[in-house]
Amino acid sequence: MAQINNGVIGHRGASAYAPENTIAAFNKALVMGCSFIEFDVMLSADGEAFVFHDDSLKRTTNGKGEIGLVDAEYLCSLDAGRWFSKEYQGEKIPLFRDVLKWLTFADISANIEIKPYRNTAKQTAVTVMSHLNRYWPQSKPLPLVSSFDKEALYLCRDLVPEMPLGLLLDSWDGHWSTTASELQCYSLHLNKRELTSERVQAIKAEGYKLFAYTVNSKRQARKLLEWGVDAVFSDYPDLLP
Ligand code: G3P
Ligand code: MG
Repeated sequence: MAQINNGVIGHRGASAYAPENTIAAFNKALVMGCSFIEFDVMLSADGEAFVFHDDSLKRTTNGKGEIGLVDAEYLCSLDAGRWFSKEYQGEKIPLFRDVLKWLTFADISANIEIKPYRNTAKQTAVTVMSHLNRYWPQSKPLPLVSSFDKEALYLCRDLVPEMPLGLLLDSWDGHWSTTASELQCYSLHLNKRELTSERVQAIKAEGYKLFAYTVNSKRQARKLLEWGVDAVFSDYPDLLP
């Protein structure tokens, strides 16, 4: 696993400065000196892997419908930048494989979040693992693969025993320790609202890295890092010096 330099992971790229989950947002993070970006992977109806966050196409594209119900050709025709600003008109929803190719020359590492559209946990996990097998450069430390979906994570662990995995939790789960241990997780990724100094200590005491999302205030980032959180996901890769 690569180092996270300033305790900040660029959430969906530098998503405060460019449209989230696009090559433009990843380029922006790179030139800002960010060492780690996070992005989300979902499948189209015909099984192509795209870097995209919502089920619905409405918020971040000029398309209609849901990502898991339309095919790749339609998704490739959409504009994923105009909603953010005119400057980014023409920006595309990236294919996952194109982002992996971008990562082969960009001096930056990645947290790849598997975000299955409904009923596609296994298919999405297998697709992500097979893309990594094909496109991740041998010379680069492995990425960190995370998900809220435990079924996806268990399958990743079975398929690629050496893959660093992160368990994402949006609300506190009393079984986190058993799940993380069964999955041989590298890290836990918690909603910032669920963290207390005691919970941070409990997770750190078991030897896991701990990342909190989504933190866009400096003061909150500093407090979490003081508690022992290892890094925060932020839309501002330059949140901390
Ligand atoms: O991976 C951290 C964070 O991205 C999880 O939530 O909804 O932004 O994908 P979300
Ligand atoms: Mg995410």
